[in-house]
Amino acid sequence: MRVLAIETSCDESAAAFLEVKNGKTARFAHLVATQAIHAKYGGVVPEVAAREHSSTLPLVLAGLAKEIVGKEDGVALGRAVDVVAVTQGPGLVTSLKVGLDSARSLAAAWKKEIVGVNHIEGHIAASWLPSAPLESTLKDGKGVFPALVLVVSGGHTELLLMAGFGKFKLLGATRDDAAGEAFDKAAKLMDLGYPGGPAISRLAAEGNSAAYPFPRPMMNDPHFDFSFSGLKTAVRYFLQKERDRLTDPVFRRDAAASVEQAIVDVLVAKTVRAAAATKAKTVIIAGGVAANGKLRRALAAAVADRVPKARFAEPPLAYCTDNAAMIAMAGYFSARRGRFDAWKSMEPDPAWELGRGKLKV
Ligand code: KG4
Ligand code: ZN
Repeated sequence: MRVLAIETSCDESAAAFLEVKNGKTARFAHLVATQAIHAKYGGVVPEVAAREHSSTLPLVLAGLAKEIVGKEDGVALGRAVDVVAVTQGPGLVTSLKVGLDSARSLAAAWKKEIVGVNHIEGHIAASWLPSAPLESTLKDGKGVFPALVLVVSGGHTELLLMAGFGKFKLLGATRDDAAGEAFDKAAKLMDLGYPGGPAISRLAAEGNSAAYPFPRPMMNDPHFDFSFSGLKTAVRYFLQKERDRLTDPVFRRDAAASVEQAIVDVLVAKTVRAAAATKAKTVIIAGGVAANGKLRRALAAAVADRVPKARFAEPPLAYCTDNAAMIAMAGYFSARRGRFDAWKSMEPDPAWELGRGKLKV
């Protein structure tokens, strides 16, 4: 099966091509164009993002066509594709619409099947991409499920129980800010620019993570929900109080490391507890914050220590933040189950949530 995928849910215009043959990836290419323009606003501006997608996505698709069929030719690309996959939600409605309309026109013109993909399911599917930890289970998913998934992105922080693609149960989610937002807001308070997660993590690398004891909200509560707004407020008051030291590089490193540690501690504690409670065979980490080195190392160690029977899967760094390769993989899994959409009636679903229904695992 040959899948062409489009992703435009936020500020990345991305396209990918994936061919799966006999349960193995036979061919694969992906391109991502990140919209640099938002950095100067300190966050993503929806109208600007949609406009940028309209001008950039055609170029990304042309680049992908060149890679796959050797020329910037839509008709030739169409002949090389069986299914069009596109992010339908969640995300910014105006951004989603650009990718969705483009995918719908391609599917209609090429007379190919189309499948709307959930962006979060895409992040999860990244662990099956080439060189990813679950790639070898692409054929039948043997030994993987039930899996416990920690989703940590700019807009989502949630724990999901996964019985297979399309089969999720939501165990808990953030009641306010997402983990990525906590990173981004702390970074903003320290004038580190946007997106802030990678900047905090670079600064934290040589800091003392025990220097400042920031709160770990809900860490020991029995439920699987999260809350990061109290941490954000604590960081804000702390930095206001210590504003004279904000130019001191040691203070900055220690503050960044302490914030990062507080976020990581909460995520790790809840994830391993959920993995143990659900007897998960695999612990999967997904979303932009999964690129965080401290989180990856801490979670790997905690899984080995606390749920040693579970396998820990983390996607390659290149597929943690938004891309279309992950949408192609999730689209492949949908198509394999025969779940397609009708291009005529597809609309963006900006609040599409995984796992609200009942699930037997
Ligand atoms: O999944 P993603 O690319 O976009 C959404 O779907 O939201 O996630 C973006 C988020 C941002 O909040 C960004 O600061 C965070 O992921 N992020 C990181 C790192 N890389 C990206 N957070 C912490 N450490 C990182 N290395
Ligand atoms: Zn994302």
